[in-house]
Amino acid sequence: MCCAVSLVTSHHPPYFFRAVDSPTHLLVPPLSSSLLEKLGRTLPIKGRHRKTVIVHATSNVRRNPNIAKLQAGYLFPEINRIKMKHLEENPDAKIISLGIGDTTEPIPQPITKAMAAAAENLGTLDGYARYGGYGAEQGQTLLREKLAERFYADVNIQASDIFVSDGSKCDISRLQMMFGSNRRVAVQDPSYPAYVDSSVMIGNTEMYDHASKQYGKIVYLACSSENDFFPNLSLAKDAELIFFCSPNNPTGAAATRDQLIELVRHAKETGSIIIYDAAYAIYISNPNCPKTIFEIPGADECCIETCSFSKYAGFTGLRLGWTVVPDKLKFADGSLVKNDWNRLMCTSFNGASNIAQAGGMACLSDEGMNAMSELVSFYKENAAILKNTFEEMGYTVYGGTDAPYIWVSFDGRDSWEIFTEVLTKCDIVVTPGSGFGPAGDGFIRCSAFGHRENIIEAAHRLKESFSRS
Ligand code: MLT
Repeated sequence: MCCAVSLVTSHHPPYFFRAVDSPTHLLVPPLSSSLLEKLGRTLPIKGRHRKTVIVHATSNVRRNPNIAKLQAGYLFPEINRIKMKHLEENPDAKIISLGIGDTTEPIPQPITKAMAAAAENLGTLDGYARYGGYGAEQGQTLLREKLAERFYADVNIQASDIFVSDGSKCDISRLQMMFGSNRRVAVQDPSYPAYVDSSVMIGNTEMYDHASKQYGKIVYLACSSENDFFPNLSLAKDAELIFFCSPNNPTGAAATRDQLIELVRHAKETGSIIIYDAAYAIYISNPNCPKTIFEIPGADECCIETCSFSKYAGFTGLRLGWTVVPDKLKFADGSLVKNDWNRLMCTSFNGASNIAQAGGMACLSDEGMNAMSELVSFYKENAAILKNTFEEMGYTVYGGTDAPYIWVSFDGRDSWEIFTEVLTKCDIVVTPGSGFGPAGDGFIRCSAFGHRENIIEAAHRLKESFSRS
């Protein structure tokens, strides 16, 4: 803390100071006049000469050493900061964002209507009595049942295994809280940055190593075209927790059934738990790629799955997701993981917004399911436009068929350098591959979330400035 104060009395200690911008009196311990001279500057304040002293005050609370290990701000706010700076320097720039995967199209009407009705309902005595006040920390029973019916009907998952929340990202941090510190964690490299950052914050890592661009103790499982974007799991033989995202953010690769069988086999053999992020599962077209890890026999004994309405129905700002913790998943002492998850949710979460949950119910109606599927098709068409564009330009491109992300190779070039070049030449924001882990360097990720005219315009600008052929 540091504040500018002006000296109110200066005869003898104790000295009284007034914060320059507020009338508060601060009592400052005796300071010698020479120290005051050193600290202070004489400034004319309201026509009279008084001392203005910069007082540096600190609390007695030590900074969380784990948070202090983090190297930079979270990836997407950092990118936004650079974008805003670019806009400040180029006020006429018509920036197009292919950066953060943020949905752009309106939430379909059947869903917004249900939420509007739910909000109205809260304004009535009866409606408030039924839906107002605190809801169940685990989510509304009907919503949990509907989620089970829509997404887990053919697998061994019950409504009571599903915990509704304010989104996958929040659940990832809460899962870290549930498992606690000093866990051995493995992540796909590249991967969604929240897995690594939350692992650092909870105390699962050592310091960052600038040479390898990795945090000590985390196992980075490199995924590239060379291994069909499926890692060498033997590297994770000692990991307790394995974060696995399919379709993968950022590469867009969806894991096949055989790959997921291997993943589950690995977890069962090593006794590890997979935290399976299925936030983009609805984008999978390939029938050989499961939409939930629970399609794999035995996954209910070694996996937690997290998912979200964000990219299904444009709920990025509304916040609604769910995490599945099956009954059969146990800790080493035989206790149920689900019980601890329930305990944690009851302590740290008061249930998802009842209006958002009404929206979730509407998403899962027949009309809502059709509307979500249309929305997803729209973004997938965007993905196809971007993918074709880069291919026509002479680039090697991955993803974009089972995911809303295009992963473009720039043949080993520094990905922040490419990011800057794309921004300065085209006024387009992309995401540098290395923001997702060291194996992402040499790539950029383009998000297919955008209005169609912006996607077409972006394709045009990219072709003009970056064509190779
Ligand atoms: C992304 O751009 O990777 C994600 O959409 C951001 C998020 O889901 O938090």
